[in-house]
Amino acid sequence: MCSGSSPKERAAMNNTQLELRVESDVVAARQTGREMARELGFGVADQTRLATAISELTRNVIVHAGEGVCRIYDRSDAQAARVQVVAEDKGAGIPDIEQAMAQGFSTGGGLGAGLPGAKRLVQEFDIESEPGHTKVTIAITKPRVRVA
Ligand SMILES: Nc1ncnc2c1ncn2[C@@H]1O[C@H](COP(=O)(O)OP(=O)(O)OP(=O)(O)O)[C@@H](O)[C@H]1O
Ligand SMILES: [Mg+2]
Repeated sequence: MCSGSSPKERAAMNNTQLELRVESDVVAARQTGREMARELGFGVADQTRLATAISELTRNVIVHAGEGVCRIYDRSDAQAARVQVVAEDKGAGIPDIEQAMAQGFSTGGGLGAGLPGAKRLVQEFDIESEPGHTKVTIAITKPRVRVA
């Protein structure tokens, strides 16, 4: 993880990368995403949805691939506030993405609730996976209120 910086400092950058190896890295990624969402004007419910989805994806990296990285971007523009999060690893990959997305499917003795749960929490959700590379990309968006 970025040494010496706090979630708040990382969130203030519009592009931050965290290494994922241990549970505290999951916490740091979750806090950074939450903080960026807060700074961009998302409400507490949206902040919590994003934080929960980040927890699931980053924990998956550690549990199923051993290690990886999480990148958090401010992709806001004039129309909408948008936080995009990429969780990426060089592990074995997901052979059948449709199966992995099904509620209750787990190869690791888990509940198999992480991926389908995360998808429900965010506006954008995409998985790319092949042997040696898995990349899950999510985003939350919120249209800007236009002042007439
Ligand atoms: N980064 C990854 N690399 C390889 N396989 C993955 C990865 N993420 C998910 N998977 C596969 O997709 C399955 C479903 O993931 P999901 O997060 O839904 O469930 P889980 O991690 O097994 O359990 P839970 O998240 O409920 O504790 C996993 O069991 C695993 O087989
Ligand atoms: Mg999981």
